[in-house]
Amino acid sequence: MALSPPHVLCFFVLSLTLISTSTAQTQRNISLGSSLLAVNNNLPWESPSGDFAFGFQKIGQDGFLLAIWFNKIPEKTVVWSANGNNLVQEGSKVELTKLGLILNDPKGNQIWESEISGTGVDHGAMLDTGNFVLANQNSTSLWESFNEPTDTLLPTQTLAGDMKLIARYSEVNYSNGRYRFAVQTNGNLELYTTTFPLDGNNYAYWSSLTEGVGDTVIFNQSGFIFLEAENGTILNMLSSKASSTQDFYQRAILEYDGVFRQYVYPKSSGSSSRGWNMMWTQSSTSIPPNICTSIREDTGGGACGYNSYCILGNDQRPNCYCPNGYTFIDANDEMKGCKPIFEPQSCDEDSRDVDHFDLYSMDNADWPLSDYEHFQGVTEDWCRKACLGDCFCTVAIFRNGECWKKRIPLSNGRIDPSVGGKALIKVRHDNSTSNLSGADSKKKGPSTLVIIGSVLLSSSVFLNVLLLLAAFLAFSHFNKKVKVFRRDRVLTLDDSEILIAVKKLDNVVKEGEKEFKAEVTAIGRTNHKNLVQLIGFCNEGQNRLLVYEFMSNGSLASFLFGTSRPNWDQRVQIALGTARGLAYLHEECSTQIIHCDIKPQNILLDDSYTARISDFGLAKILKTDQTRTTTGIRGTKGYVAPEWFRNMPVTFKVDIYSFGILLLELVCCRKNFELEAEEDMKIVLSDWAYDSYASGTLEFLVENDEAAMEDMKRVKKFVMVAIWCIQEDPSMRPTMKKVVQMLEGTVEVSVPPDPTSFISSL
Ligand SMILES: *[C@@H]1O[C@H](CO)[C@@H](O)[C@H](O)[C@H]1NC(C)=O
Ligand SMILES: *[C@@H]1O[C@H](CO)[C@@H](O)[C@H](O)[C@H]1NC(C)=O
Ligand SMILES: *[C@@H]1O[C@H](CO)[C@@H](O)[C@H](O)[C@H]1NC(C)=O
Ligand SMILES: *[C@@H]1O[C@H](CO)[C@@H](O)[C@H](O)[C@H]1NC(C)=O
Ligand SMILES: *[C@@H]1O[C@H](CO)[C@@H](O)[C@H](O)[C@H]1NC(C)=O
Ligand SMILES: *[C@@H]1O[C@H](CO)[C@@H](O)[C@H](O)[C@H]1NC(C)=O
Ligand SMILES: *[C@@H]1O[C@H](CO)[C@@H](O)[C@H](O)[C@H]1NC(C)=O
Repeated sequence: MALSPPHVLCFFVLSLTLISTSTAQTQRNISLGSSLLAVNNNLPWESPSGDFAFGFQKIGQDGFLLAIWFNKIPEKTVVWSANGNNLVQEGSKVELTKLGLILNDPKGNQIWESEISGTGVDHGAMLDTGNFVLANQNSTSLWESFNEPTDTLLPTQTLAGDMKLIARYSEVNYSNGRYRFAVQTNGNLELYTTTFPLDGNNYAYWSSLTEGVGDTVIFNQSGFIFLEAENGTILNMLSSKASSTQDFYQRAILEYDGVFRQYVYPKSSGSSSRGWNMMWTQSSTSIPPNICTSIREDTGGGACGYNSYCILGNDQRPNCYCPNGYTFIDANDEMKGCKPIFEPQSCDEDSRDVDHFDLYSMDNADWPLSDYEHFQGVTEDWCRKACLGDCFCTVAIFRNGECWKKRIPLSNGRIDPSVGGKALIKVRHDNSTSNLSGADSKKKGPSTLVIIGSVLLSSSVFLNVLLLLAAFLAFSHFNKKVKVFRRDRVLTLDDSEILIAVKKLDNVVKEGEKEFKAEVTAIGRTNHKNLVQLIGFCNEGQNRLLVYEFMSNGSLASFLFGTSRPNWDQRVQIALGTARGLAYLHEECSTQIIHCDIKPQNILLDDSYTARISDFGLAKILKTDQTRTTTGIRGTKGYVAPEWFRNMPVTFKVDIYSFGILLLELVCCRKNFELEAEEDMKIVLSDWAYDSYASGTLEFLVENDEAAMEDMKRVKKFVMVAIWCIQEDPSMRPTMKKVVQMLEGTVEVSVPPDPTSFISSL
């Protein structure tokens, strides 16, 4: 952590003048009048062991959160917060007074206070359990953060009476979300939805079924979580095994997706699985085991919002998708649901608009509510015609001779093998009347690629720069300087005409010009035939532009998934090229560059279809919430290594994982997720590939590809390398150098284990 400004240090020293020497119950008293300021790098009030801290955490650009967090781990995971609904601005202050803790904004308006029982606060203390207490002179507790939990329980904490856990709105938005966890007055411990944005109880989607007897949830010192009756009998074990609190940090949290999960984090810094790992509960890693199918209430959108559908991922987390023909209303907040991107069917009898619609089918999909008609003893064909001919019908479900017609908004959508049957979704096929704008084109990527023109270069270095500059200025609206490096390189092109591509960076971290320049210079210094060369950059005021050489054959994504698919030899060369480029970034640059976003969209193809990695080095420049949080994860679903989801440290091994997925896509010429796959087992390519490998049926992966079929030895080798790359345990994945050697055949590939063996061994 960087050093704080001197005035903050003073606050800290003042507040810790009384340092405990008692061993019985170690605590440091925080005396009346002590305060903390919301500024960058403020020093918090730490517990004696340093395991927990109380203070301000900066939440992106949105403001500061008064919180308690795990202080000895890099993630600084928040376990309690005071003002999630109301972040405060820089310069706000929390002070310990006789009346308790008082949080004021910079203008002195009170934002929050601890409501104490009784009077006469004498001191406060951040305890090693993670509990922050306020006590009177006799050390009687007047207020405890443990009695006002937010979304997290810690060992030794209990949940009783009218206490409840409140899920936050999203991973990074700490305001109240849609889900609660509490022992109800009827004695059931329940997970339930609320009438969001109001606070009313809506619908229980999980219950302990302990009516009349359930009383208190206990997270005990040994790491077990259970529900007790008033007389102390254990009614329901929520965790089926425990890890020692000596060796692991622990927490249980009602997460923003409505799932209650228990996590452990090895205290020893030598552990290979350092990071938050999910613990197994009785039947699964979470309660409820499958949130996608658990919510079935009459009102509300369900786990994924209206018109969308939910699939439980390998990481046990719900993933939200829009059906074909629909797009997210807000790509940054998928819970807001999806909207159709076509004009609805006209109900006018004469218009024959019905001719413009088709139904496409999705197996095992359902929106269990939203029905308005139900027919029995019919055929699928009848069901199709009935929906097509009915302008109100948005989706029909056909299952075992039954047909349900559904209308918009659809709710509680899910795809799950337990559903059975199929959904027939109506979309307009005539594109002339549809406007396919929507989220895809607007999707917040790291940048926008704009080709602004061609630049004529002559042979003089000086002139080159000037001409490039002049051309740039002429073509752009930005009257700014462009810094160009690699003049020598540009010079060798002498009087040829080169096309350039300009990237405008929108969400650059607010760091000094110097840092930006240092990063960009590092990117500019890279030189490898499998990387897109950065030619220059512009950095003035709000404008951050990067000038790259232009890649005439577009991205691998459009090549691989488009109409003119590359042949097997081309795919082999692209795999090798990408691997070499990545190995260079990881191991041969002066400073290691982790890409963080390897996917076919970021592999470009030059005139000779050589793979060229683009966008490397940007992970450090762009705001972290784009690469790290759900926004980033959403953009690149499927390529993201599981440690992002587990809050484990992110290392260069994330690129290896993404490369593994990319390699499978190259071998099979299809996307990792293909919801319209004819069989369920083929929906997720990485699962299918491992299953095919394990059962010795690899030829099905490439069955329509003659050249690959004739080269099965190589197909097998590539798939084995890919399986090594997508191991859930990052430490199992090979380095990129090893990957290159295996792909080239200079090193034997050993038999890879099941990529998921890591989670099940936790
Ligand atoms: C904390 O304050 C209380 C009340 O003034 C006092 O009894 C106790 O000894 C103090 N504890 C420490 C560790 O200073
Ligand atoms: C502290 O304890 C003493 C003796 O038991 C009692 O007289 C006094 O009222 C207590 N003070 C507070 C603030 O509770
Ligand atoms: C968090 O989400 C709530 C509910 O949608 C919204 O009102 C609020 O503005 C969000 N807060 C931040 C900091 O984005
Ligand atoms: C915690 O609960 C478990 C399960 O009931 C029990 O075996 C263990 O002894 C308890 N630990 C403590 C410290 O009470
Ligand atoms: C405790 O309460 C439970 C539930 O009411 C009951 O089944 C059990 O017999 C009670 N045990 C004792 C020892 O009273
Ligand atoms: C509709 O799409 C088809 C195929 O994508 C295309 O050939 C046709 O020109 C499009 N029609 C219109 C009116 O844009
Ligand atoms: C599509 O968008 C264009 C331009 O925004 C608009 O003029 C046109 O009416 C739209 N068509 C439909 C069918 O919405």
